[in-house]
Amino acid sequence: MKPVDKVHSATVFIFLVVSVLCFFFYQQYSAVPSATDWVAGFMEEQRLAEDSNEKPPEALEERPPEALKEEGRGNGPCDLFKGKWVWDESYPLYNSTDCPFIDGGFRCEENGRPDNNYTKWRWQPAHCDMPRFDARGMLERLRGRRVAFVGDSIGRNQWESLLCLLSSAVADKSSIYEVNGSPITKHRGFLSFMFRTFNCTVEYYRAPFLVAQSRPPPRSPGKVRATLRLDFMDWSSSRWRTADVIVFNSGHWWNYEKTLRSGYYFQVGNRVKMEMTMEQAYRKSIETLLDWVGRDVNPRKTLVVLRSYAPIHFRSGDWKKGGSCHKETLPDLEGPPPAEAENWALRVAGEVISERARRRRRHRPPVEVLNVTQLTARRRDGHASVYNLGPGKAAPLHRQDCSHWCLPGVPDTWNELLHAVFLRWDLKNHHSLTPAGG
Ligand SMILES: *[C@@H]1O[C@H](CO)[C@@H](O)[C@H](O)[C@H]1NC(C)=O
Ligand SMILES: *[C@@H]1O[C@H](CO)[C@@H](O)[C@H](O)[C@H]1NC(C)=O
Ligand SMILES: *[C@@H]1O[C@H](CO)[C@@H](O)[C@H](O)[C@H]1NC(C)=O
Ligand SMILES: *[C@@H]1O[C@H](CO)[C@@H](O)[C@H](O)[C@H]1NC(C)=O
Repeated sequence: MKPVDKVHSATVFIFLVVSVLCFFFYQQYSAVPSATDWVAGFMEEQRLAEDSNEKPPEALEERPPEALKEEGRGNGPCDLFKGKWVWDESYPLYNSTDCPFIDGGFRCEENGRPDNNYTKWRWQPAHCDMPRFDARGMLERLRGRRVAFVGDSIGRNQWESLLCLLSSAVADKSSIYEVNGSPITKHRGFLSFMFRTFNCTVEYYRAPFLVAQSRPPPRSPGKVRATLRLDFMDWSSSRWRTADVIVFNSGHWWNYEKTLRSGYYFQVGNRVKMEMTMEQAYRKSIETLLDWVGRDVNPRKTLVVLRSYAPIHFRSGDWKKGGSCHKETLPDLEGPPPAEAENWALRVAGEVISERARRRRRHRPPVEVLNVTQLTARRRDGHASVYNLGPGKAAPLHRQDCSHWCLPGVPDTWNELLHAVFLRWDLKNHHSLTPAGG
């Protein structure tokens, strides 16, 4: 090698090193801060404000209720999802006759269900209190914002419950309307209700797998009628990506009947994975969800919630196989969680999330799990059962619905929990550059 070449190589080498370093620093500083960075930043700001005896920013003057502190009272942390059901005469929070936003199938009382005890249970966390659902306050916070539910019909159940809870604070119900004029019972893929006074929409997107459904790739085996693209979010994602609160749920469609037996196979990239198990496929879908959240969602603007699986309660038999729940009038109040609490979908979602959190501590996926599986497992009394067909028409016993829930009822509790999680998140993020209040 000639000396000139040596100098040349050294220059090139140094140039490369500098470039790589620059790129690295650029990445560090241009990356959107993760949710945890954001909170840490907020805490620091709060400390500085206290140190300098300055008036804290507006949001800090609000005293968060007990439930909103990270640590609970007594001897445990505040886990909103650990606790018990207690009888509360002041429930339900609304009457179905006052809420025009409920599918006929969920109006149990109007459909003839004789007992209403299932509407009178309040969820009481073990080491803290939940803030009471404040419809007016939540609407104020949601001013100019969008809430989107994405998932299966149990997600729709929860969406309708939130419409009722929020609309209970609005006297003029005609100021709440579907933006395309679609009726609530007629399915259009998505429905979006506008609360006009608050310029806030509460939306529902049907996407039972959360990932995209597609035509099979060329030269697939004949039995493949369609595929679930496990590495792509549902095609409607561009519509809800920019919502301010997104509540996902899935699980009920991840079974043999609703996939392989109907010719729906799993696809990753260009390949149909004929041998993939249900659990592997579901895991991949949750990984795709977290990847998507990390890549496409702005954690400063959007709260992402994954509502965990809501157990079904067919006793002594399956759906259409003699299973029933129509005589259940009491929750499972005492003792260890009932068998329904054991659910592989919740386990897999939990595993994927904690794996991610372990691998990239500073970049935990900014997803809140609304862990309702166990508390819901205790509520075999809350299903629509035979009161799901309309006024005065009890369904035949072999057609009862032990998956969906009466409204008012159990999904209201999921939304009280959502309200608590949202409040906590909003208080932490209120000082954002584009505050919700405008
Ligand atoms: C529901 O109706 C009952 C009886 O009609 C009434 O006593 C109760 O206050 C109503 N509840 C709400 C939340 O409006
Ligand atoms: C409903 O609750 C009341 C009061 O606890 C009780 O007296 C009644 O027996 C219950 N009804 C049913 C059908 O469980
Ligand atoms: C209503 O809210 C949307 C965001 O959802 C915003 O883009 C729009 O400017 C708001 N309109 C008014 C009149 O405030
Ligand atoms: C959900 O809650 C149950 C009961 O508190 C707990 O055992 C489980 O680990 C939780 N799962 C997740 C994913 O948070």
